[in-house]
Amino acid sequence: MTGNDVDVIGNSASEAGLFARPLFQDAKARALSRVGVLDIGSNSVRLVVFDGAARSPAYFYNEKVMCGLGAGMAETGKLNPEGKARALSAMHRFARLAEGMGIAPLTAVATAAMRDAIDGPAFREEVEKATGLKIWVIDGEEEARLSAQGVLLGWPGSYGLVCDIGGSSMELAEIHDGEVGRRVSSPLGPLKFKDMEGGKKAREKHIKQVMKDLADHMGAQRDRLFLVGGSWRAIARIDMHRRNYPLHVLHEYRMDAESVAETIGYIEGADLDKLRGECGISSSRMALVPYAAEVLSRLVSTFEPKDIAISSYGIREGLLYEQMPQDLRKRDPLIEASYFAENKDARMPGFGRRLFDFVRPLFPQADTTLLRLAKAACLMHDVSWRAHPDYRAEVCFDNATRANLGGLKHWERVFLGLALLHRYKNKREGTRFEDLYALLDDEWLQKAEILGKALRFGAMLWMSEDGDSGADLEWSREDKVLTLKLVESASALYGEVAESRFKSLANSLGASDYKVEIT
Ligand code: LMR
Ligand code: MG
Repeated sequence: MTGNDVDVIGNSASEAGLFARPLFQDAKARALSRVGVLDIGSNSVRLVVFDGAARSPAYFYNEKVMCGLGAGMAETGKLNPEGKARALSAMHRFARLAEGMGIAPLTAVATAAMRDAIDGPAFREEVEKATGLKIWVIDGEEEARLSAQGVLLGWPGSYGLVCDIGGSSMELAEIHDGEVGRRVSSPLGPLKFKDMEGGKKAREKHIKQVMKDLADHMGAQRDRLFLVGGSWRAIARIDMHRRNYPLHVLHEYRMDAESVAETIGYIEGADLDKLRGECGISSSRMALVPYAAEVLSRLVSTFEPKDIAISSYGIREGLLYEQMPQDLRKRDPLIEASYFAENKDARMPGFGRRLFDFVRPLFPQADTTLLRLAKAACLMHDVSWRAHPDYRAEVCFDNATRANLGGLKHWERVFLGLALLHRYKNKREGTRFEDLYALLDDEWLQKAEILGKALRFGAMLWMSEDGDSGADLEWSREDKVLTLKLVESASALYGEVAESRFKSLANSLGASDYKVEIT
């Protein structure tokens, strides 16, 4: 996360900002608590219903039908007839579902195939009549803008170039400092290459020419490249498979020019049927992957981005972002989601904030990255209390690493997961997750352990809803002494088990001594 305008970190927990009242409790945000959007793409038609902490949306409902409205359009100029029939019945179903969920009317947007087809307007009328939906056929720049806004939902305040590949078009948009800048649409959708004459050579020439025009329009874009769209995600999945990458979360997955080149070579040499089974890619998607790979190769060699990130957030999340008030947009998606989880699932919502004050002295030199993760861990330290005790540590780890969260890099997911694992367990060896630990270096492994053990200890010292715990930690790095200061009335809380946890924390810190002071 970058960007100073992002309301993330207060140096102390009492500062407004981070621990101010979570915005999803505001009326404005509550109105967003269930939002349905319908994305009528050239490949797929998808209904998404967002729920929960709007700043970090949960997918209350998500259904996609690969209709292929744009298939064959390059030749006929018309929507694919079979695709139309499938899209119509999908939209019928989605409109009914939305009614049933009480979220109608849906915000429905249609992109390249619908806007370019000769029979697009007639089909739109037909659908509107039959389903009662209102469809917005958006132009390429608007498509680019919305999808860039989706990226901003996950990376508030970041810089870079967003590239959304659909079935019949490919959009580019610049983002900087929380805003969408220049944008442009192109015909580089993989469905358009299927029936192109002249084979690979002709395609290469065409892609090269179009990409050059795009580069002229967009200017130099050497920051991060954000990839949005099902065909890019499929390529990323293959990249993970090739590299044997341990975490199968696509959002925030990173690639670089080299791995892209290797993966494209790998795809070219692969038995696509076999690969598709191994990576869990549908056959209709796999049919587009080789074309998308050719576009990606040219995209990367043209713009030379400093790094490449996959974004699962795109046009649909952009529509949600569009409806958010500015103050909500600025919120940190991770912290908002952590608040939400605490409120929903913790035994004593509000305790996380005080726990953060308790563990804070252990990290006197913490940077904002660590503080932010520590805050999230504190807020989520108790959300898995209902799980079976034998599995609680693993459930915690799983929750954090595989959660549908924005605003978290992969190594940060593992850090959070490990801290929460150590909240229940001293040892991290012997779990099913060991290969994931490799995403952290030793220093961060150690920090996760200290944080987790501090949560474990702190959570024992107090079981009341409000008031001060009367317990504080002091850590002196110079003489390596860890001190627990307890007010007299709380001294009974420091029992045998608490003592052994305190000792274990002192051990992980490398303390030469630990002591308790009753004040
Ligand atoms: C589309 O045009 O359908 C895309 O945005 C999404 C996809 O499935 O490729
Ligand atoms: Mg699309």
